[in-house]
Amino acid sequence: MNHPKAIQVNLRAKTPIGIFDSGYGGLTVMKEIVKALPGFDYIYLGDNARAPYGTRSFETVYRYTLECVEWFFEQGCPLVILACNTASAKALRSIQQNDLPLMDPGNRVLGVIRPTAEVIGNYSKTRQVGIMATNGTVASQSYPIEIKKFFPDLDVYQEACPMWVPLVENNEYDKPGADYFINQHIFQLLEKGSKIDTILLACTHYPLLINKIRQYLPLGIELLSQGEIVARSLVDYLERHPEITGRLSLGGHKRFCTTDDAAGFGQSASIFFGEAVIAEKVNL
Ligand code: DGL
Repeated sequence: MNHPKAIQVNLRAKTPIGIFDSGYGGLTVMKEIVKALPGFDYIYLGDNARAPYGTRSFETVYRYTLECVEWFFEQGCPLVILACNTASAKALRSIQQNDLPLMDPGNRVLGVIRPTAEVIGNYSKTRQVGIMATNGTVASQSYPIEIKKFFPDLDVYQEACPMWVPLVENNEYDKPGADYFINQHIFQLLEKGSKIDTILLACTHYPLLINKIRQYLPLGIELLSQGEIVARSLVDYLERHPEITGRLSLGGHKRFCTTDDAAGFGQSASIFFGEAVIAEKVNL
């Protein structure tokens, strides 16, 4: 027999880490986080029904992201990672500064831009780095601004790749059509900075394109994805913040949610996450 009260108590008992993206991309980050911190409970939410975010206005990305963060808090998550550069660039600061104090000042929402900006300079010898990202992330100037704080000597060149997320979201990431757009944007980036020796895939969808990206990349250029960087930074954060770590439940459970069709999401997500994913559709 279904007993609503019993269900509520059970949900309350779980206080998972929330991981968010506009679609599938955040799974590339979650995979590394779970590898580094396997004991915790996790909920993933992909807002696939409204993806991509990269070409949407600040106001829209902020509103969508806030709705998703509210949903995570309703699920009992004390900590939410925006595993999406576009949401981190366009919504994180407002949520941290304006919304969180009113919603639940004890909860935390973290992004992926700062942890990446903190380390990118360690990889470059030429001191020229390239950022490949969505239109929204590039337009926000978040990376050049954040990177300058940690590595003022670095020259940062950006390239917006608006077709790359749709290639991933539509399962075209390993098909011949992807080659044209991948080659085009690598060429354009390297024209801007001819000494670039480090390229950051500053969109969590892009690791799905990594094999094709490598094909078109000149030898000697280091390609960085964010999964491991963000995972390492989270391990460090949890060590420094026992007040948050102590609130997280340790069950080793993973729940995968999408705002769009669950069967379709589960199929693609299994490929991106690297293990079988059974997803559920949720309404925000
Ligand atoms: N994974 C998101 C990011 O890191 C993709 C954005 C989109 O939906 O366009 O930027």
